[in-house]
Amino acid sequence: MTLSSLAFLALLEITPQTPVPAPATAEPAATAATPVPSDLPPGVKVMKAIPVEDPTTINLDGVPKAKSAAPRIVFSQCRVNSNVIALTFDDGPHPQNTPRLLDMLKERGIKATFFLIGKSAATWPAVVKRIVDEGHEVANHTWDHKQLSIMAEKKVMDELQKTHSAILNACGVAPSLYRPPYGAIKLTQKKTIMEHFHYPTILWDVDTLDWKSPRSIAKVHDTILKEAKPGSIILCHDIHVETIDAMPTTLDDLKARGCQFLTVSQLIKLEAETPAAPVVAPAATPAVAPPAVEPAPAKPAE
Ligand code: NI
Repeated sequence: MTLSSLAFLALLEITPQTPVPAPATAEPAATAATPVPSDLPPGVKVMKAIPVEDPTTINLDGVPKAKSAAPRIVFSQCRVNSNVIALTFDDGPHPQNTPRLLDMLKERGIKATFFLIGKSAATWPAVVKRIVDEGHEVANHTWDHKQLSIMAEKKVMDELQKTHSAILNACGVAPSLYRPPYGAIKLTQKKTIMEHFHYPTILWDVDTLDWKSPRSIAKVHDTILKEAKPGSIILCHDIHVETIDAMPTTLDDLKARGCQFLTVSQLIKLEAETPAAPVVAPAATPAVAPPAVEPAPAKPAE
């Protein structure tokens, strides 16, 4: 379950989200000199970088950061130059819906990422094991889906640690990513979580709003087909039956467009191996500091 709009995220997130501009001209095919990640599905091509204003290379005042800037720790999408996306499913595992989804993914050879609730992972460990056995990625979505941004640090660490252990116990694989419930997380918390767990914060750039009534197959399908672009991280929830029902046509239509599917970790790796984009110099106008106003915590929509 998530808050309904990226507008909320834009308020809460300190790092601005920057849409990836379309290249002005068609990109040339990959050259032999371009490094190709070893664990990508066959056929995924890595092409020459296009200039992209990467949020992690720009400070809050718009001034480019020095080259020694810290590695990126928040991802709403990835900067890639091939037709790849990451499907993500939150709030499971669910004892019926998740296995149904796994059947659909397996039939099509598609890998996805599952942001699991620790309490549910401890309740249905066999489903977690199946997710991993079939080549998908498991990630941490806290123990019981409370809002981390209003929580004391020790409680945040407990939420993540208990879930980390539950997933590891269920499938033998430790998660390496987390997503905060509702996308609600403070910058200081993101840094602390990276230090303690080495988890980057994973958000999304395509929100199916599949948790929100009225739920429908068409809403999930149409949102994904309309909004997905190269490097997208797509938010779905495998606890809702309509979302699962939407998947066969959604997956087939994406495949028909030539779309390929990576786990979130694979997508991040692909971005890291994509040649860095040049940083655009700022305009010669004085930088204006952002207002020092902390947005009020938004009420979870569900
Ligand atoms: Ni959630």
